[in-house]
Amino acid sequence: MSGASGIGTVGTEWWRHAVVYQVYVRSFADGDGDGVGDLPGITSRLPYLRDLGVDAVWLTPFYRSPQHDHGYDVADYTDVDPLFGSLSDADDLIATAHDLGLRVIVDLVPNHTSGDHVWFQAALAAEPGSPERARYLFRTGRGTDASEPPNNWRSVFGGPAWTRVGHTDQWYLHLFDTSQPDLDWRNPEVAQMFLDVLRFWLDRSVDGFRVDVAHGLLKEASLRDQRLVGEASDIFEVGGHEDDEPMWDQPEVHDVYRQWHAVLADYDGDRMAVAEAWTTTVEANARYVRSDELHQAFNFDWVMASWSAAAFAAVVTTTLPAMTAVGGAPTWVLSNHDVHRHATRYGGGETGRARARAATLVSLGLPGSAYLYQGEELGLEEVDVAPDDRQDPSWFRTGQPGRDGCRVPMPWSGDHPPYGFGPGTGQPWLPQPDAWASLTVAAQQGVEGSTLEFYRGALAARRSLTDAPSEVSVEVSGDVLTVVRGDLTIVLNCGASPAPLPAGTLVAASGPVGEDLPADTAVWLTPTG
Ligand code: NOJ
Repeated sequence: MSGASGIGTVGTEWWRHAVVYQVYVRSFADGDGDGVGDLPGITSRLPYLRDLGVDAVWLTPFYRSPQHDHGYDVADYTDVDPLFGSLSDADDLIATAHDLGLRVIVDLVPNHTSGDHVWFQAALAAEPGSPERARYLFRTGRGTDASEPPNNWRSVFGGPAWTRVGHTDQWYLHLFDTSQPDLDWRNPEVAQMFLDVLRFWLDRSVDGFRVDVAHGLLKEASLRDQRLVGEASDIFEVGGHEDDEPMWDQPEVHDVYRQWHAVLADYDGDRMAVAEAWTTTVEANARYVRSDELHQAFNFDWVMASWSAAAFAAVVTTTLPAMTAVGGAPTWVLSNHDVHRHATRYGGGETGRARARAATLVSLGLPGSAYLYQGEELGLEEVDVAPDDRQDPSWFRTGQPGRDGCRVPMPWSGDHPPYGFGPGTGQPWLPQPDAWASLTVAAQQGVEGSTLEFYRGALAARRSLTDAPSEVSVEVSGDVLTVVRGDLTIVLNCGASPAPLPAGTLVAASGPVGEDLPADTAVWLTPTG
């Protein structure tokens, strides 16, 4: 038995124990029938999320953007892209969500702008060394004719992280696509612009921000070469995997978040921010949620854990003390728009789906906050998107399949595409598979044993845990993980055969349970009597 003690779930702020549902804006609901999701579509489906039982919605970027990285390339941070609607549609969405008791978290993309942003266009038109260029990271190339990049950094999407400006000596840094130039956060103008952006959306009543690439804003000032061990990776990993990372997780980035904390604290209602920070250690991750910085950070170790009791136990027992040390609340994340869906990661098919439900039940029982990704409540799996249909910029840069497979639009009803995604006919922006007819919301609603009804039941059961203690003890016995949290016992069987079911009253189960705990199944138990 190993103890893993308490975390900062003590405290009344809503986000410490919230279940947040991630809406990938292009793919949730299409209001106007153009095959791409939009804000009015999302607003029309908010009652579904209220009925599902989540507390908050995180919307991926819907700002003006040429959409080279589907909105993570922002051309105007204070306007809505016409593809998704208008500012008044955003206001309607926020107001409707609040009326339904749902909080709204919007995405903030501070590491880079779009190449179409007025600042970058001005920078390209200006001279080297000008104030316009000083908002970004322009540097002189190496080699006698400056034809080599200024350093050896690689883009997360593959290939060099630098693009040359025409035939000049100058190159600009982009840790992602060439259309996403990195800002220079040592320039006070940049910091000021984002303080204004925060206030713009806070004034429009958003409850929080998801901070894109939160660990990337500051680079080591010299922009020196990275010491690489082994082959550079072309797989989507936003840092946190090399020993030497002069582009990620620099100490000065925390000054930015101290400033942001003060801005958020100026507003009522416990406004918050959650960091997308890929770090090498859990302690480094926890630094983003110190009491005067951001409020949460995604727990990517939980995403990365393999299907094994020992792997899950290791993440729980490292996450909780690290968060306790800084008074932060942990998060539990299994899927998002950048990774393969967890049903597929755990093996796919019926087995993968059963395991995914089981892992979800464990997540929902742990102290802290949980993040769900749209469609996981339907048991959706990664789609094998045909090469001609792929749209992820990393596919164009690396030839690797990329992230389109988890971004295929939601199936709501009907027996053929677009499955009620919108009023249009035919396939939406990424084609939906035929096999989804049996996985639509309509097909699962009210059906006992469906994944959707499992999520509803588990989220309802979770509501009784609000006062549960934040201390847990964790035990691994063979393939079985047991987590005890006050009166709640969570048991997960990662093995291939049934395991003994401990005594107690069954509060929730991820699948059918008899006298034993079947393989690939999790339960919540409370003491009987
Ligand atoms: C992380 C986002 O989640 C991902 O979708 C995006 O491509 C990169 N940041 C760049 O903004």
